[in-house]
Amino acid sequence: MRVLILKDYETVSKEAAAIVKELVTEKPDCVLGLATGSTPVGLYREMIRMHEEEGLDFSRVTTFNLDEYYGLSPEHPQSYRYFMNENLFNGINIKKENTFVPDGSVKKEAVEDSCRMYEERIKKEGGVDLQVLGIGGDGHIAFNEPGSSLASRTRLVALDEQTISDNSRFFDSSDDVPKFALSMGVGTILEAKEIIFLANGAKKADIVAAALEGPVTGMVTASALQMHPRVTAILDEDASDSLLKGSFYRFAADAGRKINKKLF
Ligand code: F6R
Repeated sequence: MRVLILKDYETVSKEAAAIVKELVTEKPDCVLGLATGSTPVGLYREMIRMHEEEGLDFSRVTTFNLDEYYGLSPEHPQSYRYFMNENLFNGINIKKENTFVPDGSVKKEAVEDSCRMYEERIKKEGGVDLQVLGIGGDGHIAFNEPGSSLASRTRLVALDEQTISDNSRFFDSSDDVPKFALSMGVGTILEAKEIIFLANGAKKADIVAAALEGPVTGMVTASALQMHPRVTAILDEDASDSLLKGSFYRFAADAGRKINKKLF
C-alpha cells in the first residue's frame, strides 16, 4: 500500500484530485467509484475547479456510488443521490445518465434484483477503474459495518449504532437517520482496479491505524484494503497520528517521488 501523509485536508483533497485528473485525461471514458460523507467534499470541489478552470472533461466518464440510505428517495435532501448532484455532478459536465447510485426507494421485494443489477451494470461498464473511499468511525468502507463478510457483494445492510450516531449530524436527530442502506460489498470494492482511501482529522487516527496496520478482519472492513495491490491511502497529519510506521511511509513516498513511480 502507498501511504501519503500530507499537511492538511486541502492538500489531501488536491492530491486525490490529481490522481483523478490523471486517469480522466489518460482514459476519458473511465469508470469512477465514488463515496459521500464529509471526506470527499474537498476532492469534489477540486474536480469542479479543474473542470471550470482547466477544462477537465467528464463527458464520457461513468460513476458508481458506493451506497445509498434505504428508504430515501433520490429527491430527499439527505439522500446520497442528492448529495452527489449538489456536491459534484451539477458542477461538472458529466451526463447524469452515466451516474449510478443504488436506488434507496426500491420496494422490499425488489431489493435483491436491484442490487444484482447494480453489480451487473458495473461489470457491463468494464469495472471500476478508480474507487474513492472514506472510512467510518467503526472502520467501515461503504456501509460494510463490523461483522460484514470480506467477500460481500452489493446488498441491503443494517447500520451500526455508531454510524447512526456519526451521521446524525446531517439529520435533525439520530431518530431520523435511516437504519438500513444499500451498499456495495467489500468483495465488490476490492474488484476496483485502483483505490484511493482518504482520511482526515484526529478522530479518524486510531481507526486508520487499525485499518492499515492491524489484522485483516471483518470487524474493521477497511482492513480488507491490505489485500488489494493498488491502494493509495492519502491522510492528513492528524489522521496519521496513530500509525506505527509513519516515518517509513514518508520515506517511501519521497523515494517514489524521486523516481517518479507509485511505490505500492
Ligand atoms: C459514504 C460511505 C462511508 C463514508 C464514511 C466516512 O458513501 O461509503 O463509508 O465514507 O462513513 O464518512 P465521513 O467522510 O463523513 O467521515
